[in-house]
Amino acid sequence: MEFSTKAIHEGEEPDTGSGNGDVISPIHLSTTFARKDPQIPTHGFEYTRTGNPTRLALEKKLASLENAKYGLMFSSGLASETTMFLSLLQTGDHVIASDDLYGGTERLLRSVVSKLGITYEMRDLSKESSLDHIPEKTRMIYFETPSNPLLRIIDIQKVSGIAREHNLITAVDNTFATPYFQNPLDMGADLVIHSTTKYIGGHSDTLGGAVITKNKDIYDKVKFNQNSIGAVMSPFDSYLTMRGIKTLAVRMKEHEKNASAVISFLRESSKVSKIHYPGLKDHDGHDVARKQMRGYGAMLSFRLKTDISGSKRFVGNLKYISLAESLGGVESLIEIPSLMTHAGIPREIREKTGVTDDLIRLSVGIEDSRDLIQDLSYALGKV
Ligand SMILES: Cc1ncc(COP(=O)(O)O)c(C=O)c1O
Repeated sequence: MEFSTKAIHEGEEPDTGSGNGDVISPIHLSTTFARKDPQIPTHGFEYTRTGNPTRLALEKKLASLENAKYGLMFSSGLASETTMFLSLLQTGDHVIASDDLYGGTERLLRSVVSKLGITYEMRDLSKESSLDHIPEKTRMIYFETPSNPLLRIIDIQKVSGIAREHNLITAVDNTFATPYFQNPLDMGADLVIHSTTKYIGGHSDTLGGAVITKNKDIYDKVKFNQNSIGAVMSPFDSYLTMRGIKTLAVRMKEHEKNASAVISFLRESSKVSKIHYPGLKDHDGHDVARKQMRGYGAMLSFRLKTDISGSKRFVGNLKYISLAESLGGVESLIEIPSLMTHAGIPREIREKTGVTDDLIRLSVGIEDSRDLIQDLSYALGKV
């Protein structure tokens, strides 16, 4: 089955239990399920935290888009990361993470996971030599590619290969690329993380996360803790996410087309000093991106030739492009990472990786690109 067909049909069959011929999965709000035998759930479900028919349909659908066997849905991207870390690591273990990560993931490692005696360090995994030395206690390599907010590209096949030689788990956050543009599991990663709040949901109206894997042992461990910790996706959010996923292919094509138009405009602007986008030939990771992605997506960041007050004037003068955190919705969103999504990362760590005050992150939506360019043009005039 091809991508768009899977996105629409996988995990769902007409009449999923309703007896009415529904062509979409109904929202199963029931928190518990009646059974005939005290020890055997008659219909396969017992309690919604443990398993729910609407969530299961989504889990199957997203797993199929990542060419995987197993999917688990959580109440947010960070809930999926937390459950995954707690399931696969224990006190004394060590994690190597990429140094350009969503600020919330860095905070999770620094303020929560490390309290359990799990140590971590951040490295620029886009550099060839970054894994020359691997500490003995290392159990996992965790990264985003493309990364947030600098759009760095990490060679999934190469890193997974090194990880396998050292018996380490490779975990890839595939939120920016989505399975439409990239399938890390096919390149050797052991598991994929998604914040489905972003492109997968696609409409900025539902929070969620996922752990996707082909590995039964990883699945069993994370599934056990999905139920034990309980940060599961609700039936209603599962429905909204499933509704979003059905148009992922058409949205991603439009997102990318608009990103390309916006970048052509920004490249001509005298106010812009640098654009970070893996589709550009002068991007450090362009060759690896071309090898491992089927497209470059619609997330980009750029640097303005101004100070922080000029950056604030720029974002404050946009009309259609909202100044807001998050990304991946149909509407374009812009932000200043150093003041917003990445503000929680200590300044010295943030600035070392390049997340400085001149950096602007843009999630290009699927409005008409002519309106987006007009909007950007006006606001750049105010810098
Ligand atoms: C790349 C990436 N991963 C994970 C997360 C966390 O997801 P959530 O906000 O759904 O918890 C985010 C949130 O912005 C993100 O951008």
